[in-house]
Amino acid sequence: TPRDDVGHGSHTLATAGGSQVNGAAAFGYGNGTARGGSPRARVAAYRVCFNPPVNDVECFDADILAAFEAAIADGVHVITASVGGEQRDFFEDTVAIGSLHATKAGITVVCSATNNGPDFGTVSNLAPWVITVAASTTDRAFPGYLVFNRTRVEGQSLSEASLRTKSFYPLIIATDAVAPGRKVEDAQVCMLDSLDAAKVTGKIVVCCVRGGVRRMEKGEAVRRAGGVGMVLVNDEEGGSNVIADAHVLPALHINYTDGLALLAYIKSTPSPPSGFISKATTIVGVRPAPVMAAFSSVGPNVLNPEILKVAGFAYRS
Ligand SMILES: *[C@@H]1O[C@H](CO)[C@@H](O)[C@H](O)[C@H]1NC(C)=O
Ligand SMILES: *[C@@H]1O[C@H](CO)[C@@H](O)[C@H](O)[C@H]1NC(C)=O
Ligand SMILES: *[C@@H]1O[C@H](CO)[C@@H](O)[C@H](O)[C@H]1NC(C)=O
Repeated sequence: TPRDDVGHGSHTLATAGGSQVNGAAAFGYGNGTARGGSPRARVAAYRVCFNPPVNDVECFDADILAAFEAAIADGVHVITASVGGEQRDFFEDTVAIGSLHATKAGITVVCSATNNGPDFGTVSNLAPWVITVAASTTDRAFPGYLVFNRTRVEGQSLSEASLRTKSFYPLIIATDAVAPGRKVEDAQVCMLDSLDAAKVTGKIVVCCVRGGVRRMEKGEAVRRAGGVGMVLVNDEEGGSNVIADAHVLPALHINYTDGLALLAYIKSTPSPPSGFISKATTIVGVRPAPVMAAFSSVGPNVLNPEILKVAGFAYRS
């Protein structure tokens, strides 16, 4: 079946070979022409992962090898494989074995570096016969602003919804709104049903640390509890790497230093804390771009250090 209810295969395939689509936009942002790197390529897709049976993410080696075999038999010119596991000996690495057979048949094989950055030595798919590709940023940004205590800080968002009026809304830190019977640690990361509707309704909730649950699920948690908006604060490790997400309510992801100032304000202001989130806009032509994405795996190559794999620098906080 060509159905893809996860989207990873469709996303990576469109990046490589998607044909041109005019007026493509995400929730009104980034309107323009979308296309893959080789938009007129004819594409054969081989499905290797579905309802991943192991840990929800791992797929069977036999399916991956069968796909390489089918692609070789079909006479494709290039194979792009955005799958990868641990860095392991090439004799035990399914992608390395499948791609060796493809390479011997004259097929160019391109593999993902995987998304385990930004620490050094995280790159997978290290076989010398494959091209290993990192993830990079684009030259677009989606800035929105959070206003509080007469200051304005910039964040990123793809929220379709915006706050209705220009008046300020009360701010509350998620850990001050723990639902009865839930742990502070759950509210801190804005887990579903961890927030107390009695405290959150009508307010902008500050989800005071990234991680724990998916970012967009945090927005869902705030909305379910009756919040009108969300500010997601980076942890120290996340630094200035803020991400534009299509949240289900007006929301903004802000950096660690701005987050510290926001939390300090909420905790120490003598009057009730309040703020406003503006709707984000699309900016094109951001420089420098592209740079390596913060989540991209990075070299050096831990198996064959003499062969460079993903040796660029990571753009860190
Ligand atoms: C995108 O831009 C085109 C051309 O300017 C316009 O016709 C279309 O309505 C826009 N679409 C969105 C979703 O903004
Ligand atoms: C955090 O964002 C603000 C803009 O709101 C910016 O001035 C500041 O440099 C950023 N901090 C870091 C560490 O990137
Ligand atoms: C509000 O901002 C002013 C400076 O603009 C600062 O001196 C003050 O400490 C801030 N208030 C709080 C409660 O953080």
